[in-house]
Amino acid sequence: MDPVLNPYAPGAGTPPPLLAGRDTILDAWDVVIGRAAAGNPFQPIVLSGLRGVGKTVLLLAFRERANQAGWPIELFEARPAGDLRAQLAEALPPMIRTVNKRWRNKQRAERLGRIAASFARAVQARLLAGGFRIELEPEVGVADSGDLETDLTELLVALGEGAREEGLGAALLIDELHEVPPEQLSALVGAAHRVNQERLPVVVSGAGLPPVGRVLSEARSYAERLFSIRPVGALSPDDSRDAFAAPAAELGVVIESAALDELVAISGGYPFFIQSYGKHVWDVADGSPIDLEDVALSRPRAYRELVDSFFRPRYDRATPAERRYLHAMADLVDGGPMVSSTEVATKLGHDQPGRVSPQRDGLLTKGLIYAPERGYLAFTVPQMERYLRDLTERP
Ligand SMILES: Nc1ncnc2c1ncn2[C@@H]1O[C@H](COP(=O)(O)OP(=O)(O)OP(=O)(O)O)[C@@H](O)[C@H]1O
Ligand SMILES: [Mg+2]
Repeated sequence: MDPVLNPYAPGAGTPPPLLAGRDTILDAWDVVIGRAAAGNPFQPIVLSGLRGVGKTVLLLAFRERANQAGWPIELFEARPAGDLRAQLAEALPPMIRTVNKRWRNKQRAERLGRIAASFARAVQARLLAGGFRIELEPEVGVADSGDLETDLTELLVALGEGAREEGLGAALLIDELHEVPPEQLSALVGAAHRVNQERLPVVVSGAGLPPVGRVLSEARSYAERLFSIRPVGALSPDDSRDAFAAPAAELGVVIESAALDELVAISGGYPFFIQSYGKHVWDVADGSPIDLEDVALSRPRAYRELVDSFFRPRYDRATPAERRYLHAMADLVDGGPMVSSTEVATKLGHDQPGRVSPQRDGLLTKGLIYAPERGYLAFTVPQMERYLRDLTERP
């Protein structure tokens, strides 16, 4: 069918035609911002999930909802080994613009602008180079100590006090939160804790790979109580059916029930896979209804694209020794969610796991695997084990 009309949207952070199966979490977010604005205690949401499960599109939906409520809200992605102050400072100018537009108390809005300028001062040179600029004179003595936690707390408190007076809230959403270096994460959690203690309507939320909950509590022991860590995973079979069927139905195209079952099964309910298989089956089909034959015809094409865009780029980042480690993991996973690192070492012919820990550490750093529990490992990419097992050439 006409690829121009194809409704499916495989991509990174590309909003799907139907955000299936996420009503509960969206409702939870509405409760958070409602409670925050009302001055009630709240637990900011942190999404935790594998690659391609839809964390970023959920954050976008969070942003949309807070925006509709009139909140200044910024979303940015933490970069590996990045500088959180610089990234926050980049996110500030648009936030300050919104504050200037929305807050009735212009004096407070202006003061917040000056505090933001103070906060950004330490990284101003870089900000200007990046084309960003806060045009205000800094507020001397506030948010300019050079200590990230102190400065961020002062900034968020000023934001929260102003927002409270306006009967609104404000939020910061940080994607790839697990990438924030521990010391900076600790400062961020500390600042979020402080505004929370003062019941200020500032919500610091985010998303990250599954270690994110542990990374947060390693940064600050109370982090797991401060935030509500929400796992985001594959969609249920019913929600997966909706995710395939509804966008087609919207355009007058029916997917036969057996074809739907097959699509749900091969995608495993993983959102990114749903969009990819949906896209290809649409392109291959001659017209409505889409049937099993269309699914069979499109499946290899969809899989090839998944290999090229999802699996292989990650596999290619591993060294040959790391790849052997990945294969050993894949052979051991066997449908379960994780494998023991001791077993991986044994499989690689080593009695002591220490011998292969450089490979394991390399893969952890590259974000290809994570440790769900001490001594256990899992892939950050859904169905990675199947891809690895299907590879004919092994290192
Ligand atoms: N609830 C959903 N229903 C249907 N499709 C979805 C849903 N959530 C996400 N998608 C689709 O899945 C794909 C991946 O979404 P997204 O980029 O948000 O995932 P992610 O978890 O942020 O991945 P990564 O960890 O790689 O950043 C996109 O193509 C998106 O359109
Ligand atoms: Mg993402």
